Amino acid sequence: MSLFLSFLAMISLALASLSPQASAAGVADNGSSIARRPKMFNHQKLFLQAHNEARAAAGVPPLVWNFTLLLDCRRYVYYELEDRCNTRPLPLYAWGTDGMHGRNLYMGTDNDMRRSPANVVAAWVGEGHWYDRKNNRCTAPEGRSFEEYKQVVWRATTQVACIRHSCGASFNTTVAVCEYYPPGNIKGQRPY
Ligand SMILES: *[C@@H]1O[C@H](CO)[C@@H](O)[C@H](O)[C@H]1NC(C)=O
Ligand SMILES: *[C@@H]1O[C@H](CO)[C@@H](O)[C@H](O)[C@H]1NC(C)=O
Ligand SMILES: *[C@@H]1O[C@H](CO)[C@@H](O)[C@H](O)[C@H]1NC(C)=O
Repeated sequence: MSLFLSFLAMISLALASLSPQASAAGVADNGSSIARRPKMFNHQKLFLQAHNEARAAAGVPPLVWNFTLLLDCRRYVYYELEDRCNTRPLPLYAWGTDGMHGRNLYMGTDNDMRRSPANVVAAWVGEGHWYDRKNNRCTAPEGRSFEEYKQVVWRATTQVACIRHSCGASFNTTVAVCEYYPPGNIKGQRPY
């Protein structure tokens, strides 16, 4: 072994012997890893729950919440949707991806500031009746799609985060975004 390699080996031994103390702060006495994970707010739990109910109904495994995705949801809502809220209206529902994440968008202009996470997800899930599973095709009328439903129940997606925000001149518009990882809606593939 070269001098350099044995030096590396010594360092990793030293790190290994340090690690129990080093990690102790983030681990509960019983060894479970509570590792300073941020706590989920109630509306976040409701977003997650609504997704997992729809997924259970489609027979696919539940999603887990991912706080890294949440950061991107924040960026998207405050820097991209906030602007459009006053100027160019979105379609009511939309799906997109930046390659890394899948992204479901929602805009409600019905003056209901308390629009709940369950209602937002239900708006997407409601498109599910346009899914002709036998032929894997969409039967939605012109101008509508079921891309948002597909992303909610996309089997290979494992993680989600969502945020909703009131905006517009009198804050009577609600925008919401959920991000998904890995992204769904790969062309030619079935959601489940
Ligand atoms: C370990 O401790 C944490 C924090 O006190 C607690 O929430 C958790 O339920 C415990 N886990 C087990 C397996 O006892
Ligand atoms: C959370 O999502 C990001 C994608 O932005 C991914 O890179 C990361 O691995 C995910 N976190 C976990 C714990 O899987
Ligand atoms: C929002 O509120 C303003 C002022 O009360 C009203 O003029 C507007 O029509 C409302 N917009 C929607 C989409 O409800």
